[in-house]
Amino acid sequence: MALNVAVQMDPIERINIRGDSTFALLLEAQARGHRLSYYTPDRLAMIQGAVFATTQPLTVRDQAGEHFNLGDGQRMPLSAFDVVLMRQDPPFDLNYITATHFLERIHPKTLVINDPAAVRNAPEKMFVTEFPQLMPPTLLTRDLAEIKAFRAEHGDIVMKPLYGHGGGAVFRLTREDLNFGSLYDLFSTNFREAWVVQKFLPEVKDGDKRIILVDGEFAGAVNRVPAADDLRSNMVRGGSPKETELSPREREICTTIGPKLRERGLLFVGIDVIGGWLTEINVTSPTGIRAIRNLGGPDVAALIWDKIEKKRKG
Ligand SMILES: Nc1ncnc2c1ncn2[C@@H]1O[C@H](COP(=O)(O)OP(=O)(O)O)[C@@H](O)[C@H]1O
Ligand SMILES: [Mg+2]
Repeated sequence: MALNVAVQMDPIERINIRGDSTFALLLEAQARGHRLSYYTPDRLAMIQGAVFATTQPLTVRDQAGEHFNLGDGQRMPLSAFDVVLMRQDPPFDLNYITATHFLERIHPKTLVINDPAAVRNAPEKMFVTEFPQLMPPTLLTRDLAEIKAFRAEHGDIVMKPLYGHGGGAVFRLTREDLNFGSLYDLFSTNFREAWVVQKFLPEVKDGDKRIILVDGEFAGAVNRVPAADDLRSNMVRGGSPKETELSPREREICTTIGPKLRERGLLFVGIDVIGGWLTEINVTSPTGIRAIRNLGGPDVAALIWDKIEKKRKG
């Protein structure tokens, strides 16, 4: 059964196809005979509650520089599609939240992956707090006294923005670090929200593991080891992907959170685990599936399309 699939994503000409999970999903969909259409979030329009976008027919090819072809734009009601992949990248800001409201109008009649209301309700570093037993000691606040007390208790800490992504503005502070006061001031002027103060996990030198769950079940994993001169494991910051297996603790994390993800319609999720501690549950536009495949792991894109096809059949 061929599906009409629309992908809402950032400009396709700018993606790096080697590592792009959205691109892997598109290649797999096309190989299965599904019809692809493409639009960027700024083409969305809502009129009297009905959602439209100017979409373009899309074909993809696994060849850098010549990786896509787009047909003529056509204004379409998004409800005309069987599936919409919401794959725009963070920042998770009011623009993102607005897009989830748009897509909520068509879901679930048109299957939106991931469920847009659930995406809105699960900012990645906030969602983790529903599983306190799985997370490292973590404080969310902008209150100086709270941070000082947490720092006195835990020694080395990490400070990072609650809605940050890609390793942006992630700092480690040792117990004695004299930059704390200035960094506090910088955070309080730059961020309007509470931010994350977390116990520093020395195991990060062995990597931050990205584990993919599809419809609540473990589907594949890749370890990301930070460069020697950086705290951050994010691949965009020089972290290197390494083949990996799950420890018993990581399996326990998957079986604990899996059912909650499935309940909420969060079909494609990437969680991050450092030293056996859950630090993020990525539901917006998780990455890692190409790295998993390149390292000889499972074909997560195929698992995702198996699930989507099954759901569309009812
Ligand atoms: N508590 C921590 N202990 C050690 N390293 C950390 C900690 N928190 C974050 N890091 C490092 O910083 C990177 C980015 O932090 P993360 O919380 O994943 O935010 P982002 O959303 O920007 O990826 C992680 O991959 C890890 O290398
Ligand atoms: Mg991360």
